Amino acid sequence: MKTWPATSSFPVSENVARMQSSATMAAMQAAQALRASGANVCDFGAGEPDFDTPDNIKQAAAKAMHAGRTKYTANAGIRELQRAIIDFYRTQFGTEYEPNEVMATAGGKQAIFNAVVTFLNPGDEALIPKPYWVTFPEIAVFAGAKPVFIETEETNFVLTVDQVERAITPRTRLLILNSPSNPSGRVLPPAQFRRIMELAVERGIYVVSDECYLRFVYPPCEVFSAASLPSELRSHLCIAGSFSKTYAMTGWRVGYALAPAAWINAMLKVQGHSTSNANSIAQWAAVEALTGPQESVGLMLAEYTKRRAWLLNALREIPGMRCTEPEGAFYAFPDVRGCLNKRLKTSGDFAQRLLEEEQTVVTDGAGFGAEGFLRISYATSMEQIQEGIERIKRFTQRHF
Ligand SMILES: Cc1ncc(COP(=O)(O)O)c(C=O)c1O
Repeated sequence: MKTWPATSSFPVSENVARMQSSATMAAMQAAQALRASGANVCDFGAGEPDFDTPDNIKQAAAKAMHAGRTKYTANAGIRELQRAIIDFYRTQFGTEYEPNEVMATAGGKQAIFNAVVTFLNPGDEALIPKPYWVTFPEIAVFAGAKPVFIETEETNFVLTVDQVERAITPRTRLLILNSPSNPSGRVLPPAQFRRIMELAVERGIYVVSDECYLRFVYPPCEVFSAASLPSELRSHLCIAGSFSKTYAMTGWRVGYALAPAAWINAMLKVQGHSTSNANSIAQWAAVEALTGPQESVGLMLAEYTKRRAWLLNALREIPGMRCTEPEGAFYAFPDVRGCLNKRLKTSGDFAQRLLEEEQTVVTDGAGFGAEGFLRISYATSMEQIQEGIERIKRFTQRHF
């Protein structure tokens, strides 16, 4: 009888074989599995708001559905959403984008994916400052390019123009920035951002600025978008934006890209042959998100502000832990190297044993290119944060 090849050895493409699975998704799945087994889990792994999508946004979606707005839309999205995004950037940052410079995407992630794969060729280098959001290097790898990481620990995870300059080679084509940063919560000061952009343009390097935590910054930091840079610098810039965090809409899958028309055109080609358009109902919901009441954003920020202050103090009291103040997003990123020993050699060991012994989920910094650190999300209730800190304290007392 004829024998058929085993299905377990599917011959994935070389580029996909080089990709790593997502460390953040793995932490989320670990929490889900533990919960399913009945454990009382403290979850600091979440990369999403613990708030519900505001009601006015849900109602706009229901209205769109009932009105039959359930068909394909233009690849770039409905005009109303393009207009709402353009108006937001004009009002907030005084920048005038044209409709052919904006497109709606299935989440910020698709905007980044589109931007990177339409630009990089095999053999190109993409500069990625550490610590990085797990997806950045994997998209570069998917495009056949080489991620080149920039160490930033010496400047407390805030990228400098000198660090970028030192990393540039004749093959460098792209730089991926993310401020406020996931996982460090650090914010690139606007003047520094501008100098980095100037250097990039001088050297013919293009920049993807992932601004998905744009609105979540803590005073004295102010909301800053690369969109407010002069137009000569924006010629090399693609902004990836998202509704996921700002409006607690992670499951709706809607985001956007802002870039020069030629780049958007290339991105539309890719999107036109992959997902076509962002979900039509989510696009109508996104219009309401941008044009409707904005109180929910302030309320979430106020809650994150309280949690951040409490968590930061608590982490700093744990012997061996050091934690730089996060200025944005909703993550603390403590250095736990002072808590490691012969049995717990790495931050990965720390995270794994904490999960097993205290049913507490944190994400190992190694997945973000920062071995020795842990990402602790405070997008969870104050009670959970307090309980989780008690468990971490108990764990460290037992081990050190
Ligand atoms: C830094 C960063 N960029 C982009 C995204 C993508 O968000 P979404 O695709 O849900 O808009 C995330 C989500 O966790 C993120 O943390």
